[in-house]
Amino acid sequence: MFGIDSSQEMLKVAGKNLSKVDKDFPSRLFQSKTFVQNMTFNAILCNWTLHFIKEREKYLKDIFDSLISKGLFILTEKTLQSQITENQYILFKQNKRLSNEEIESKKQQLEGVLHPLSVTQNLELLTNTGFSQIEIINARLGFVTFLCIKP
Ligand SMILES: C[S@@+](CC[C@H](N)C(=O)[O-])C[C@H]1O[C@@H](n2cnc3c(N)ncnc32)[C@H](O)[C@@H]1O
Repeated sequence: MFGIDSSQEMLKVAGKNLSKVDKDFPSRLFQSKTFVQNMTFNAILCNWTLHFIKEREKYLKDIFDSLISKGLFILTEKTLQSQITENQYILFKQNKRLSNEEIESKKQQLEGVLHPLSVTQNLELLTNTGFSQIEIINARLGFVTFLCIKP
């Protein structure tokens, strides 16, 4: 198992959490803004990250090229929300006891940084990258998980 993130802080957290199940994991963490080159994987998970990456087509292509045939790709993205869904998401956060100021401040922090696509655009992107079998395995209030297989 390997991990990639552009933030050293996040890698430290990942190393601390996963060293409980794999003591060598911290040595296989890479700080990088691009996907690793010249490595092959059976499965790749990319959760809540691709929506921050500007060159998302290139990043996805590098993921695709690094997978073995029949390899698995699990992607979770925040997708474009309608006003109805956004309102439900705000209610969800309020139920988690977040204040309106905290909710608004988080929204402003992500503006211009997180670039969500619609579910349809994500499906098109994954198809254009070359994935053949694409399924939605989880979806809630604009957070969607896609399960994709490389042909
Ligand atoms: C919401 S966090 C998700 C973290 C982790 N994937 C998880 O499931 O807990 C988003 C992560 O995207 C990372 N990130 C943003 N731009 C990136 C890039 N170009 N390459 C790699 N990671 C990036 C951030 O550092 C942050 O850790």
